[in-house]
Amino acid sequence: MGYDDVHIPVMAREVVELLGGSVEATESPSLFVDATLGAGGHTALLLKEFSSCTVLGTDQDPAILDVARERLKPFGERARIERCRISGLPRLLRKLRVARPVGLLMDVGVSSFQLDRPDRGFSFQLDGPLDMRMDPGRERTAADIINRWDESDLADLFYFEGGETRSRPIAKAIVEARRATPFRRTLGLAMLVEQVVGRRGKAHPATKVFQALRRAVNEEGDELTAGLNAAGLCLAEGGVLCVITFHSGEDGVVKRFMGDGAKRGEWKVLTPRPLQPSRDEIRSNPRARSARIRAAVRVGAVDLGVAGEHTEDQESGDSQA
Ligand SMILES: C[S@@+](CC[C@H](N)C(=O)[O-])C[C@H]1O[C@@H](n2cnc3c(N)ncnc32)[C@H](O)[C@@H]1O
Repeated sequence: MGYDDVHIPVMAREVVELLGGSVEATESPSLFVDATLGAGGHTALLLKEFSSCTVLGTDQDPAILDVARERLKPFGERARIERCRISGLPRLLRKLRVARPVGLLMDVGVSSFQLDRPDRGFSFQLDGPLDMRMDPGRERTAADIINRWDESDLADLFYFEGGETRSRPIAKAIVEARRATPFRRTLGLAMLVEQVVGRRGKAHPATKVFQALRRAVNEEGDELTAGLNAAGLCLAEGGVLCVITFHSGEDGVVKRFMGDGAKRGEWKVLTPRPLQPSRDEIRSNPRARSARIRAAVRVGAVDLGVAGEHTEDQESGDSQA
């Protein structure tokens, strides 16, 4: 099985071109951070393309890090791999005492590796436990949310995090059904949602509910914001932040972050409009269809002692590594 069967890196050429601009523009040693390493597809391309660069690849999922480790072995010490949540990046960089990175990549979707394994509980098409944790160290699973949250909180979650317009009848049906039997499996939930909303269009009727649950379980909104702030703190002057999102709400967050930063003179936006995958890419990898890339260059980096210094609280730092 090739690595593209595990996960195909999205808009790979665009990512390499955007991040590559930073290699020439900065004088710092060329370290990239791939904060959503996944199966290591983007990182492998960066290492091939820029022979003088190293990549620190981080991910919160220990199972996918094993795949990346194997894939990146041929690059030896140029690929350093650590387990870390995006929100833990500033602390990890301090702990490792590395130079400021010249590029930071966040590809904040779910990996095909995770989606295609029923035991991870992300799929509404393959039966598995209602889990959805990318980091198995998290306490709260999707089943905890479905079986414990009250009806109005569930409805708000489906509406605000999934864009599900039938959120109220779905939440009502879940609360009624769980009185008899708590939800444990993905297909049980997917079938109930389908009973409530019926089949509409090509997408599976439970798509939005599953997306909302995944976002809540993994605190994806907070993690994205933490990652953007980490980029502001950590990147070298002239370094490039490149973010791939799969959800219009997330794309809006990135757009505002970069736009507001540009007004303050902290960022120069490289993508006035988000880059989208070509028709050919969508044809060969339909999961890329909602991807959007935004990128910006760090200008006037602040010196907050984030990278390359060592203070006392770093000794007890928990980078989840
Ligand atoms: C779309 S995949 C990345 C694929 C990768 N770019 C490649 O080419 O193989 C997203 C990855 O980000 C990880 N991830 C998502 N949110 C994260 C977070 N907050 N902290 C750390 N890793 C995260 C997931 O575990 C998953 O492996």
